[in-house]
Amino acid sequence: MTLISDFLQTLCNGNGQLSRLLLSLFVIICTLSCCAWIYTKNRNGTPQLPPGPRGLPLVGNLLSLDPELHSYFARLAQAHGPILKLWLGKKLGIVVSSPSLAREVLKDNDLTFANRDVPAGARVVAYGGSDIVWTPYGPEWRMLRKVCVLKMLSNTTLNSVYTLRRKQVRETVGYFYSRAGSPVNVGEQMFLTVLNVITNMLWGGTVEGNERTSLGAEFREVVSEITDLLGKPNVSDFYPGLARFDLQGIEKKMDGLSRQFDRIFDIVIDQRLKMNREAGDSETPMTMIHLKALLMDMVVGGTDTSANTVEFVMAEMMNKPEVMRKAQQELEGVVGKDKIVEESHIHKLPYLHAVMKETLRLHPALPLLVPHCPSATCIIGGYTIPKGSRVFVNVWAIHRDPSIWENPLDFDPERFFNDKWDYSGNDFNYFPFGSGRRICAGIAMAERMVMYSVATLVHSFEWNLPHGEKLDLTEKFAVLPGCDHSSTKSAERRSGGA
Ligand code: HEM
Repeated sequence: MTLISDFLQTLCNGNGQLSRLLLSLFVIICTLSCCAWIYTKNRNGTPQLPPGPRGLPLVGNLLSLDPELHSYFARLAQAHGPILKLWLGKKLGIVVSSPSLAREVLKDNDLTFANRDVPAGARVVAYGGSDIVWTPYGPEWRMLRKVCVLKMLSNTTLNSVYTLRRKQVRETVGYFYSRAGSPVNVGEQMFLTVLNVITNMLWGGTVEGNERTSLGAEFREVVSEITDLLGKPNVSDFYPGLARFDLQGIEKKMDGLSRQFDRIFDIVIDQRLKMNREAGDSETPMTMIHLKALLMDMVVGGTDTSANTVEFVMAEMMNKPEVMRKAQQELEGVVGKDKIVEESHIHKLPYLHAVMKETLRLHPALPLLVPHCPSATCIIGGYTIPKGSRVFVNVWAIHRDPSIWENPLDFDPERFFNDKWDYSGNDFNYFPFGSGRRICAGIAMAERMVMYSVATLVHSFEWNLPHGEKLDLTEKFAVLPGCDHSSTKSAERRSGGA
């Protein structure tokens, strides 16, 4: 410092041009050094957060959120690029919308991102987060996942309960048959079908007759209330410091619902105690709480997703009668006109399979997956993603990206003829069930349930729209089997939770 001040003093005291020249040189060198220092810090030090829309103090971007998060995020990505940030109150949200960035998150950094940022409401209803969906990556999650995938939803278990699926699907056909000629709500009926399949799988032969009907109705109510509450933005999540006040009462309501669930589970769980004893491993034994949380995952995670997919498959085919015709022809060839579709047929229906894949491309049931959360700060796409942020992977936007898909908005099952895309999550252009360690645990069940239901519906009825009318796939929907007119709209309802 003394050297510099001596030098400056000499310059100031000196006369003439040389002093002025040296002073200018000194200023230039200082400025350049400063720039170089800032540049090097940005390159070698911690990179910046991703770009994003400007937010307001305290609330961040909360006030500009659109409830249809997936399409809103897709619009933001057009303005800010494939990785962007939003402030959800005090919580940092990161949105990723390109295959290469999705790969960085779900494959290259899978271990770091195999965690969840548990919403306050989910923590209450999911037994403190002791279920598969919300448990952080670790021995407990691995044990739950093993029980779920290898015991509850394995092909062997699923084969052994085929009669349950068959019975429920046949009952649904019976219902549609009785309603032929009047409007029906496919989504609602499929929700009931899938819910009955799952709950029947869970409580086996323990609950019968009237009790089964009343428990089923109670379950339905509880599930839809939970789904609604999970979808509601919750101040407790955006300002964790305020969580203990539960300002909107969401946690309190969830607590009530969770008690209802618990009571139902207690009634039906005895039969499953045997499995409880066999499950888990010596290091991480499975507790009753784990078991209940697991059952809840299947009921909440499996019903809406599968039912909505069936609804969209039907709606897309109604809009494209030539696709419906080809699917019917395939079914007639494989099953026969006067026979009943069985689950064993579904592997012989490549065209219908392509129809299901194309539906899951345009309408992935969880368009932002279940948000992931890094367990450590890391770099994605050259930007810093801080530990604890909520990361949304916009699979919906990737599935509609015109640089990946030709005419992305066209419903064209034939693009799936080449068997190039499956559900393994290895291709980041197409991953409706997610990818990596947290990929959906119920793919086998979902595939069977959706394919078997759609095959049965298409094979059993003529599905027509009024002459010249198209279903609007962004609104509510109900369709008519076996008649010529409809007042129907289809639903693009799912948007994942913030
Ligand atoms: C068409 C139907 C379905 C679709 C499209 C679907 C899709 C998904 C997606 C995208 C995820 C999140 C993946 C991620 O976070 O990266 C997920 C997770 C999950 N799904 Fe599914 N799902 C369906 C049906 C089912 C069914 C029938 C069950 C069970 C009965 C199920 C159980 C689960 C569970 C337990 C998880 C959490 C996995 C974890 O966090 O480790 N899903 N599903």
